[in-house]
Amino acid sequence: MLRSGVASLLRQAGTHKSGVHAAAITTSAASQSLSWFADVPTAPKDPILGITEAFLANTRPDKINLGVGAYRDDDSKPVVLNVVREAEARIAGSLFMEYLPIGGLKAFNDLSIKLAFGEDADCIKEGRVAAVQSLSGTGSCRLMAEFMARYMPGAKIWIPKPTWSNHHNIWKDAGVKEAIYKYYKPETRGLDQEGLLEDLSTAQPGDVVLLHACAHNPTGVDPTVDQWQEISKLMKEKKLFPFFDMAYQGFASGDCTRDAQAIRTFLADGHQLGCSQSYAKNMGLYGQRTGCFSLITASPQETASVESQMKAIARPMYSNPPLHGALLVKEILGDAALKQQWYDEVKGMADRIITMRALLRKNLEDLGNPLPWNHVTEQIGMFCFSGISPEQVDRLAAEHAIFMTRNGRISMAGVTTKNVDRLAQALHQVTTA
Ligand SMILES: Cc1ncc(COP(=O)(O)O)c(C=O)c1O
Repeated sequence: MLRSGVASLLRQAGTHKSGVHAAAITTSAASQSLSWFADVPTAPKDPILGITEAFLANTRPDKINLGVGAYRDDDSKPVVLNVVREAEARIAGSLFMEYLPIGGLKAFNDLSIKLAFGEDADCIKEGRVAAVQSLSGTGSCRLMAEFMARYMPGAKIWIPKPTWSNHHNIWKDAGVKEAIYKYYKPETRGLDQEGLLEDLSTAQPGDVVLLHACAHNPTGVDPTVDQWQEISKLMKEKKLFPFFDMAYQGFASGDCTRDAQAIRTFLADGHQLGCSQSYAKNMGLYGQRTGCFSLITASPQETASVESQMKAIARPMYSNPPLHGALLVKEILGDAALKQQWYDEVKGMADRIITMRALLRKNLEDLGNPLPWNHVTEQIGMFCFSGISPEQVDRLAAEHAIFMTRNGRISMAGVTTKNVDRLAQALHQVTTA
């Protein structure tokens, strides 16, 4: 009895509708250590936060955290881009603190869709993009999931296997059914293009396919230009709606236009599509929660209706999005010199990661490790899907104080010239002994 909460107590007594009874029982419940919340089970820990906790609890001075997907410099320190500091200086003082409209800062949305779809994109010129500022990439995905639940009834969301784990939660919480398509081939540590096309060809017309625009998380495996064309063609034939999650534009190749190439391919093929943009990684605005959610429509009239419904979804959820990050992005993308400086700084981050990939592979090969490590340099973006087993991941943590997710995903952003030797040696040990 003591373990059951007040809510179940009330249900048993059949008095749960009465505020008077509830208040009385709550008061007396307090003295009996009962609570309204005694029946609430503890939710499972987020796997990534669990890694950070284990990392923090470890006392080895040379411990390495390769779990979290946030950029670090070669001294393992978080980075604020110089261009962001400059934009902050420019907006300081002039910045008002009023609410933004429900759809966010219009100038920010206009600049964001140009970044994703191209300066001269027909869909923009023709007024066919409905866009709202979102709470970063997660918020964009959540708005899309809610939009699907209301306006694309019966449509399933097709999610790649594997994917960023939160994708499953987001569409589940919105009540949208998910289907899974093959993506990664463990034998080659590359793309399973055949499996992907085979699975998507079983989707129903009207279903939505979630595609990582670039730097697929967690595998670091992206389709080639030709493979994207095949995917686009099949989806057009099957009448499937593409939804691009673009959390790493610029972070994959170092070139924002190249990283948007998959989206541009789909646009050239005449798809209407959806897009989630995040400035967390590519501008380092993680905690500012700055993103944009857009849907390409067939006409300006449709744009007006769709955008009004996006706002109708956002309003009861969070009322309106945060101001600071949107002002920073607007300042940077709206000024040619700052935009160029940003391009250079994103390239600097992407290049550091590409260099670490080359070093890690070289060190493993120099150690004479018998496994193939070509995928380390062939994969792209923040993550390397190393191919090591969960048991080997556990050994890395226990014996070497090196922490990563149990699927063997290495956040390359945590690898530096100072720790790459130790990482290679530890990987060599756990994969050979
Ligand atoms: C594929 C993908 N989508 C979305 C996100 C969400 O990022 P945020 O909400 O911080 O912009 C992430 C972050 O790791 C991601 O990897």
